[in-house]
Amino acid sequence: MKKILTIAAAMLAISACSGQNIEPNATPVKVASLAGNSPITDVRPAEEVSVYPSRGTAIERTFAHQPPLVPHRTTYALSTKKNGCLTCHDPKKAKRMKATAVDVSHLKADGSFNNEYYFCDQCHVAQADNKQAIIENAFTK
Ligand code: HEC
Ligand code: HEC
Repeated sequence: MKKILTIAAAMLAISACSGQNIEPNATPVKVASLAGNSPITDVRPAEEVSVYPSRGTAIERTFAHQPPLVPHRTTYALSTKKNGCLTCHDPKKAKRMKATAVDVSHLKADGSFNNEYYFCDQCHVAQADNKQAIIENAFTK
């Protein structure tokens, strides 16, 4: 019993010390982010969620060798254990799944998949009906 009390007292002491000192009149921290500058004390409504096409037809490419945009949702499993994208885009399965096979550049000389291309979303992004403000960039073809 005494031991339990000692432990409880020690835990109380630790928790009493670990509390942060909150400055009541602290000026709000200004965070400059892509979503705009807003003091973190502000409560603002969440951004509208992007809407992805549910069934895709290929989206026209804007320049040669552009990784084509994904014309469907991208929530398929994509981890070291499972690649849901290859379920349809693997050259051996693509025809049956009515999808385009991965580009030949994604294959090794013997025709097997080159794992350097494993994480598809590194290069392929979904085309979404995106309600968020467009971020300017200086890309030219
Ligand atoms: C259920 C099957 C299926 C799965 C799973 C799937 N796709 Fe697709 N994908 C399709 C179909 C069907 C199309 C439209 C036909 C086409 O262009 O290949 C398509 C189109 C694409 C295209 C456009 C091809 C082009 O030439 O414009 C890309 C890129 C793509 N998918 C990438 C992905 C990625 C990345 C994943 C995983 C996150 C994925 N797909 C998972 C069926 C699938
Ligand atoms: C390192 C970047 C990169 C990664 C990773 C990558 N791709 Fe690609 N992919 C490209 C590029 C670039 C092209 C266009 C090739 C060209 O036109 O020269 C392409 C083309 C494609 C195409 C169209 C092929 C055609 O014949 O029109 C499909 C489908 C595709 N990729 C699916 C995938 C899938 C599925 C994965 C993951 C398993 C993946 N890619 C991973 C860069 C990438």
